[in-house]
Amino acid sequence: MPRAAAGNLTVAPVQAGAQRLGARSGRSWRLAGAIAALVCAVPFAVNATDAETITQQGNGKGAAPCMACHGADGGGTEASGYPRLAGLDAAYLQRQLDDFANGTRTNAVMQPNASALSEDERAALAKYYSALPLPARFAKPAATPDAAGERLATRGDWSRGVPGCVQCHGPGGVGVGANFPPLAGQSAAYIEAQLKAWQQGTRRNDPLQLMQHVARQLTPQEIQAVAGWFAGQPLPRKEGAP
Ligand code: HEC
Ligand code: HEC
Repeated sequence: MPRAAAGNLTVAPVQAGAQRLGARSGRSWRLAGAIAALVCAVPFAVNATDAETITQQGNGKGAAPCMACHGADGGGTEASGYPRLAGLDAAYLQRQLDDFANGTRTNAVMQPNASALSEDERAALAKYYSALPLPARFAKPAATPDAAGERLATRGDWSRGVPGCVQCHGPGGVGVGANFPPLAGQSAAYIEAQLKAWQQGTRRNDPLQLMQHVARQLTPQEIQAVAGWFAGQPLPRKEGAP
């Protein structure tokens, strides 16, 4: 059915209802429902468009176009250490943007961008990226047969109280819910930078300081090995948010 006709179908009952308004309470309830549905639909549509526009053009108030660094498909830029955002959990993404804005996560590049966004824009962008499908290249990783990295990732080192990363980040590092972000396929440079940021205290926004504790036990060689191993892990291809 053409879109104009579908539109008429929605409008006609509203007008008919309006004429009888007051005469029958049942119909006026239905009318109120129809109007509420229309009113609710409008701001949602505007938000969705805004988020996409900001990713392409910035918000005109100091936030740069996200795609310049995080890629048009949200897949990030491996070599520069710009992380993938596509398909990550919306609540996780929103908290990271809020934390850049309030300073519990320090980064010279992201802080000015996040601070220039309104709370609504941060929420809309988190939802937008979370709903983007996983770019195809993440399903076909480069093999990195690094035994030291794999051991730390899957088994940890209990003699130092370091649990295997997959205990929290899921099998193969695919991520678990809103609290444990995926590591599989994420840029190795980015993973390394985050572990160092926790060691140095420039990232200190993790719940219960779980990552602060883990990162402080690791040597530079271990950080490099485990980052390389996760960067090479495949991600199951799934549509939208987990
Ligand atoms: C000039 C490059 C650049 C631009 C533009 C940029 N980012 Fe970033 N973004 C980064 C870098 C670098 C990091 C990693 C920061 C760190 O190491 O803590 C990052 C990290 C993030 C993270 C954290 C991801 C995670 O897994 O924790 C989110 C969310 C994010 N950016 C969202 C955005 C949004 C939304 C925009 C657009 C308004 C944007 N970025 C624009 C470079 C950029
Ligand atoms: C006890 C649970 C736990 C273990 C074990 C753990 N992590 Fe984490 N990790 C977390 C939590 C929670 C976060 C999210 C922090 C936040 O919300 O800011 C996180 C976040 C991260 C991030 C940031 C991802 C992003 O998108 O910004 C990296 C990188 C990371 N962990 C690497 C590791 C590595 C490597 C290991 C193993 C050496 C490991 N983690 C073990 C709980 C854990």
